[in-house]
Amino acid sequence: MNIENTIKDQINQVIEKEYCLKDFKFQIEEPKDKIYGDYTTNAAMLLAKKRKSDPIKIGNEIIDKLNKAKKKKSVQLSEYFSKIRVVKPGFINFYLADDFLKNELAHILDNGDEYGRTNEGNGRTIVVDYSAPNIAKKMHVGHLRSTIIGSSICRVYSFLGYRVIGDNHLGDWGTQFGKIIFMYKRKYGEVIKDDMTVGEMESMYVDFHKKEKIDLGFAGKARAELKKLQNKDKFNYRLWQLFCKISISEFKKIYKVLDVDFDLWRGESFYNDMLQEVVEAALNGRIAKRSEGAVVIPLKKYGLPDFLIQKSDEAFLYSTTDLATIKYRHEKYNPIKNIYVVASQQELYFKQLFKTSELLGLSSNEEMIHVKFGLILGANGRKMSTREGEVADLWDIINEGISKAKKLMTKKNPDLTGDGLESAAAIVAIGAIKYNDLSQNRLTDVKFDWDKMLALESGSAPYLQYTYVRIKSIFSRIGFEFDSLQKNIDLSLLGRSNEMILIRDLVRFPGIVKRVLSEHRLNLITIYLEELAKDFHNFYENSSVLRSEKNLAVARLGLLKAVARIMKNGLFLLGIDTPDRM
Ligand code: ARG
Repeated sequence: MNIENTIKDQINQVIEKEYCLKDFKFQIEEPKDKIYGDYTTNAAMLLAKKRKSDPIKIGNEIIDKLNKAKKKKSVQLSEYFSKIRVVKPGFINFYLADDFLKNELAHILDNGDEYGRTNEGNGRTIVVDYSAPNIAKKMHVGHLRSTIIGSSICRVYSFLGYRVIGDNHLGDWGTQFGKIIFMYKRKYGEVIKDDMTVGEMESMYVDFHKKEKIDLGFAGKARAELKKLQNKDKFNYRLWQLFCKISISEFKKIYKVLDVDFDLWRGESFYNDMLQEVVEAALNGRIAKRSEGAVVIPLKKYGLPDFLIQKSDEAFLYSTTDLATIKYRHEKYNPIKNIYVVASQQELYFKQLFKTSELLGLSSNEEMIHVKFGLILGANGRKMSTREGEVADLWDIINEGISKAKKLMTKKNPDLTGDGLESAAAIVAIGAIKYNDLSQNRLTDVKFDWDKMLALESGSAPYLQYTYVRIKSIFSRIGFEFDSLQKNIDLSLLGRSNEMILIRDLVRFPGIVKRVLSEHRLNLITIYLEELAKDFHNFYENSSVLRSEKNLAVARLGLLKAVARIMKNGLFLLGIDTPDRM
């Protein structure tokens, strides 16, 4: 259950009833130091400020009412807490009761992987626009970040009962196609070559830009090819379809390895027929104006540069497509949130886009959210980009990770060989790549440092995966089936402080997951899982499971099973798998 929600609801009821304030806003937090309780709230302080009264007095009044309310309400706060008290300067601290904690533990064991799953989203729709690589170009590390973060965001929303539509808004239209088609025809003439690779398409593009400087005719010829494509010239159109097909099938290979899929694949080209209408509506509504033949949205009033939506040669842009996309998604899916997982470099662009969409009334009540992120840097701290010649091919990165993970595991566990080793290495390497991304502050640049990413001691996916594997191996050593341990566990035998620390960790999980949604910070989950792992290792080093009396051993195994479950669940929300051995 979500204890924070319960505390919040009950305090709100008291405030509404006793102080006649509806939807009073306050925070519930988990104090770092447990002497301040498991949860703490500033409700009394905020309320006292509003009423110009003494926070301690208000705090005591609230506690009194909470305790009285218990008799009538089906949810009884006093069953959860051994103590609720107010301390200077007016925080109300809540201390979870041992019996409640043990009940929750039983609940985790019964519910298995469902613990923390709620239906609070109530089926409302969230659109997540993520990954979105560009056709005829290799997927690069920026898209990798978007893919990892976006798919984890989708998992968290689904877990909380939302209907999630993950949309891969591929860059499959635009001026680059004129250039590539032109270069293609120079090389192969008018034949369809279906064994092209994305790498080759990308070099044609790079080559074009080199040669364009020397041969001034290039630009015009590329434009002519683009025009033909736009007018659906048969050959150019087929060629474009071929580029899309080949690129998408290469992207899909990467998605497969990353265990990512999408509900929709609507690339930019899908919106082509809707662009004219968007521009006309903007002009008719006097939101846009003509400026030297181009169409722009003046945004100076809002502290933003003007937003170009049609060029003077009548061409549409990335922005026009995004506006049409917003309109389409609104009409088709009516989402409550539109989330764009795109690099911070596009921050200004999204501000302009969201403002324009608001002015045009395209999205009405939807929340528009840009979930931005920093760059991925090489271990040397420099940008991994094609321009500097430091080509970061995603396959090279993935394969390097797998071979390093293999080395590491062979050292640690020489018995692991063959297919078992292969599959565990892939799980560990992909986990490490994802974790490296998700465990850091989204806005800072992320370094690709394999030594850190594969460190078994802390702060990495393998560290958490290893915790899971270690628990499972305790079961097999003792000869207990992990999956069937369930009944006849006497949890009342637990109560030592290191056991209670672990149970306290476990019951925090639902609240942590819920908190992710407010700022889309997935590192809340990674921080939590690392604490859980650390407390597990502490527990295990200081208490014996194998050598304790039978019933106590079983109770402790129950506790460890719950730890393993939550670990697996948490990693699942990050898109990270857990091997059975490593
Ligand atoms: N294809 C774009 C790029 O590589 C990202 C698209 C992001 N999504 C969007 N709706 N603009 O930069």
